[in-house]
Amino acid sequence: MGQLSLGLDIGHRQIKGVQVEGKRGGVRLRSHAAVDTPSGALVRGRVENAERLVTVLKQLVEEHGWNKGTTTIGLTHPEMVVKRVEFPLMSPKELAAALEFELSDLVSFSFTDPADVAYSYEVMDKASETQDLLFAGCPRGLVMAYVHAARAAGLEVTAVDVKALSLPRTLEEDGEFAFVDLGHVQSNVYVELSGKFRLSRILPVGGMHFTEGVMEAYGINQEEAEKLKHEQSLDDLIANAERNPGTLRTAVQQMVAGVTQTLDYLRAMERVSTVDQLLNGIRVCGGGAAQRGLANLLRDELELPVAILNPFLTFDREKENPGRSALFAGAAGLACRGLERE
Ligand SMILES: Nc1ncnc2c1ncn2[C@@H]1O[C@H](COP(=O)(O)OP(=O)(O)OP(=O)(O)O)[C@@H](O)[C@H]1O
Ligand SMILES: [Mg+2]
Repeated sequence: MGQLSLGLDIGHRQIKGVQVEGKRGGVRLRSHAAVDTPSGALVRGRVENAERLVTVLKQLVEEHGWNKGTTTIGLTHPEMVVKRVEFPLMSPKELAAALEFELSDLVSFSFTDPADVAYSYEVMDKASETQDLLFAGCPRGLVMAYVHAARAAGLEVTAVDVKALSLPRTLEEDGEFAFVDLGHVQSNVYVELSGKFRLSRILPVGGMHFTEGVMEAYGINQEEAEKLKHEQSLDDLIANAERNPGTLRTAVQQMVAGVTQTLDYLRAMERVSTVDQLLNGIRVCGGGAAQRGLANLLRDELELPVAILNPFLTFDREKENPGRSALFAGAAGLACRGLERE
């Protein structure tokens, strides 16, 4: 048997796992699964009820044999910083010291002891006097809560990553694409150009806000709204509303505007006049990628091709329908990244 690697994406709404097997000659999909995140287990991106989380993870581990092989956990959190920073050229030892010294400027949260910050960095580019680093950091407590829960469930966690960084690994086509991970409470826009990090931005809007908008627009409960949301396009949901569709309309606008503004920032940063000079298109993933009408709204607004990402195509095997497959993009990317690390 080849090396087994599990990518674990613990979201507010669903826990997604993809396990791959690395063999000479390629990567094979071994198993994938998604289950509902127990209510109250995660609150604003933090593990709030570890016991409930561990119970569900244990069931997954038992059912799929995920205790064999290693696990990479991916996180998306507003306090998880990922950015490009410039430093003068210096020895690796000096660089490590300089980073620790500058830590409070590099992260967006306060801390008293540098040991409370989990961070990593890699050199992206070197010039004659400077070097560009890709820096990632977040509160150690935030990360360790996930690690402890996964280990308590029997998983051998070997790494925690910024989830978006592994999304490009799930793309089987050539070209430059922006990734938009449409989640439940948040969404994440991620862009690399020529294989190098450009930006990652979290938008505080997701499928939960659409559901809330549908509840209000139709005077129905959450379960009914979730069902209706799956059946109809966003345009239709707004047009056919029996009550005030204001909340729904605002959520949709926030989502579309968030993506548009992020790409406009990219355009300005790269000093080009239109974003299609940089990107061939957008690939949407996460549970929200299956939301009817959303890809069209983004396409109209951005004037770029928008398609749903099917991460399973990279394993020469198309599983289920593309909309459902997109849910697993984060976990699939993490699984591949885990293999590369071995
Ligand atoms: N067919 C569908 N149509 C519309 N929305 C859908 C569909 N399938 C899933 N969703 C929505 O996708 C969201 C869940 O997606 P996902 O599992 O990516 O979120 P999450 O990762 O748990 O959340 P977060 O990233 O915010 O922590 C839910 O809001 C759900 O209603
Ligand atoms: Mg998610």
